[in-house]
Amino acid sequence: MSKTYRTAIIGCGGRGRGHAVGIKADDRCQVVALADVKEEAARSLAADFGLNASIYTDHRKMLEKEKPEIVASCLWTPLHLPVFRNCAEAGVRAVLSEKPMAPTWGECLEIARIARESGCQITFCHQRRFARGNLLARQLIEAGRFGKIERMDLYSPPNLLDCGTHTFDQALSFNGESPAKWALGAVDTSKILKWFGVSAEGMVEGTVVFQNGVRAALQVGGPDMDIGAGVRAVGSEGFIEVLWDGQIQRAVVYREPDWQPPAFEADSHDDHMAGVVRNALDCLESGEEPVLSGQKALRATEIIFALYESVRRRARVELPLAGFTDSPFLAMLENGEFGQGNTGG
Ligand SMILES: NC(=O)c1ccc[n+]([C@@H]2O[C@H](COP(=O)([O-])OP(=O)(O)OC[C@H]3O[C@@H](n4cnc5c(N)ncnc54)[C@H](O)[C@@H]3O)[C@@H](O)[C@H]2O)c1
Repeated sequence: MSKTYRTAIIGCGGRGRGHAVGIKADDRCQVVALADVKEEAARSLAADFGLNASIYTDHRKMLEKEKPEIVASCLWTPLHLPVFRNCAEAGVRAVLSEKPMAPTWGECLEIARIARESGCQITFCHQRRFARGNLLARQLIEAGRFGKIERMDLYSPPNLLDCGTHTFDQALSFNGESPAKWALGAVDTSKILKWFGVSAEGMVEGTVVFQNGVRAALQVGGPDMDIGAGVRAVGSEGFIEVLWDGQIQRAVVYREPDWQPPAFEADSHDDHMAGVVRNALDCLESGEEPVLSGQKALRATEIIFALYESVRRRARVELPLAGFTDSPFLAMLENGEFGQGNTGG
């Protein structure tokens, strides 16, 4: 019989429910506790998922009393670092955190440092890596079906931090995990959004060049996105367009007009969440790098902050990033650089 893990969920809103699906699907997870500042949210998650778990309104008390080995952290973005720190200090072995990593670059680096020094495994919920269509697209690209990938078009709904992270993660997975080399971006601040506790722009345009020479044009939010959220990877012999959840819109091999990508069975968000939990636990046991590792999330997040920093410097920004730890976007917003009164609330 495989080992079971004392498991807890912190934050029992929308994403807490998403993680509960993946946790329920894995026999190794024994859910011992649910924590939410709104007791009712935790109680209703327990009832809906048939979980016989203790309920807490203070996650630190829960960590102290229940000593979970696995925690799903499903909180608004500013809480990702402090709660991860609390978990690592309490001896949690693996934290499955919601994306994006954190509101500032320094907080993201701090998450990586805590993970490295404590040995607590951290993964970020770019669950779409487990979508069958994304796995197939990656296989086709790696097998050279479209020749050598030369450029990509990256599309995301607003905003760069909250949604851009999914598109950049998808692009990195199609591009052999090659880190970015430089980035140059522009933000449209005629409308300021506030999502999950973090202010953001309404639209971003930019260019990213990766270390392997692939060039990407990107649009995050705004009108006239031609394929919706997703990635078009263009190679020397063809191209493939894949939406976020792995829907293959078009796949063309120039010299074989009749070629079609192999058919695959449609899968769902629930299947992706089962993959998130299964792989995190497998990797905890094997010591391998998780598919959704903190290091991969950091690579996607570095692109986000490089684009923001290029807006601040009005210059192309080389990676790895150096010389700042804030969010250039939030700093500019606070300084009133996007117009009087336009501070995002
Ligand atoms: N992976 C994805 O596809 C995806 C989709 C949507 C949102 N997200 C991300 O998930 C995160 C959470 O979003 P959500 O939709 O679940 O939000 P939500 O508002 O539905 O749920 C958050 C829950 O956390 C609780 N909470 C707040 N402070 C707390 C604290 N200190 N301790 C314990 N509980 C606390 C709230 O009461 C609420 O129930 C965000 O960072 C968001 O960017 C990811």
